[in-house]
Amino acid sequence: MTTLIPVGMAGLGRYVPERRLTNQDLEKLVDTSDDWIVQRTGIRERRIAAPDQVTSTLALNAARLALADARMEPDEIDLVICATVTGDQPFPATACRLGLDLGCKRAGGFDLGAACSGFVFSSQVAAGMIQSGQAKNILVVGAEILSRILDYSDRNTCELFGDGAGAAVYTSLERAGRGEFLGGSIGMEGGAEGILAQPAGGSRHPATASTVEQKLHYMKMGGTKVFRFAVRVFAELVQGVIDKYGRDQIGVIVPHQVNQRIIESAMEQLSMPMDSVFCNIDRYGNTSAASVPIALREALEAGRLQKGKLVVMPAFGAGMAWGHLLLRW
Ligand SMILES: CC(C)(COP(=O)(O)OP(=O)(O)OC[C@H]1O[C@@H](n2cnc3c(N)ncnc32)[C@H](O)[C@@H]1OP(=O)(O)O)[C@@H](O)C(=O)NCCC(=O)NCCS
Repeated sequence: MTTLIPVGMAGLGRYVPERRLTNQDLEKLVDTSDDWIVQRTGIRERRIAAPDQVTSTLALNAARLALADARMEPDEIDLVICATVTGDQPFPATACRLGLDLGCKRAGGFDLGAACSGFVFSSQVAAGMIQSGQAKNILVVGAEILSRILDYSDRNTCELFGDGAGAAVYTSLERAGRGEFLGGSIGMEGGAEGILAQPAGGSRHPATASTVEQKLHYMKMGGTKVFRFAVRVFAELVQGVIDKYGRDQIGVIVPHQVNQRIIESAMEQLSMPMDSVFCNIDRYGNTSAASVPIALREALEAGRLQKGKLVVMPAFGAGMAWGHLLLRW
């Protein structure tokens, strides 16, 4: 039997675009109010990419910071994985553009499309490849420009999402010296294509003048169903970690930043206090695949990642796809 190489997270970086879209700005676009948005979601503002930025631009900024944090040169990277549902274009992969722009001369690259669970899934793929010796150093980026697929006349969706990127560098635990990969999960519940989706632009509804006229290239969502699903899955995933390791081992929960009310409901179900969870949803909204690594970097800067304690990262979203990533910091 081959021994697995222990894996750690050597570097973390985050980037959000400068422009802020506040709830007051949204009041001018749709029939909504700051009060409604804050009460139902906890979101106060979100960032919006500049017209000349594409998803790989955001990813590049986050990735450079993650590499610097890891004290690693771009040509040491073996593989670039970009988790996104709003890549630069349907193909080629945004990871290839990113690898080229970064100067990852030896690396291969691919995108992973799992919406809000993308970073958590990509991290497990990366860790598995390092554990098995197939790669030494892997860059994982979650990057999204959701503002390009939002309909700013649809109040069901436009207030919830924002743009941003977060990046992590995985390598051997020996080199990283922190963030030991302990595992995670990758799951799905089928038959839910319509609940949260960008209906057109793929083989089901290729882009035509008619799909554009029907606004099928924009994100569509059935909010209430997603809410119930997210609370249930969040609580189950964290409970699984508690059952295995014990409640006192958990240093912090850094969940997908989905909605303050979802996070609060799940924490209540778990009978855990809100100070065990890290939230930045008020400032960025839901940035899908970027949300966990952005929050993780900010949790690190805020001193919330405690040496020797568990960092639990549950994520869930379109698919419905769900899973978690577990590190010991
Ligand atoms: C979207 C969401 C905030 C809506 O909250 P809700 O409590 O379910 O609200 P409802 O959809 O029941 O709507 C309640 C009322 O507010 C209205 N409303 C909906 N959106 C509104 C908005 N942006 N501003 C003001 N009013 C709004 C509705 O029309 C409804 O009015 P009515 O009672 O007169 O019919 C909530 O369902 C949610 O957070 N879902 C999860 C979404 C999510 O996180 N998706 C990403 C997952 S990765």
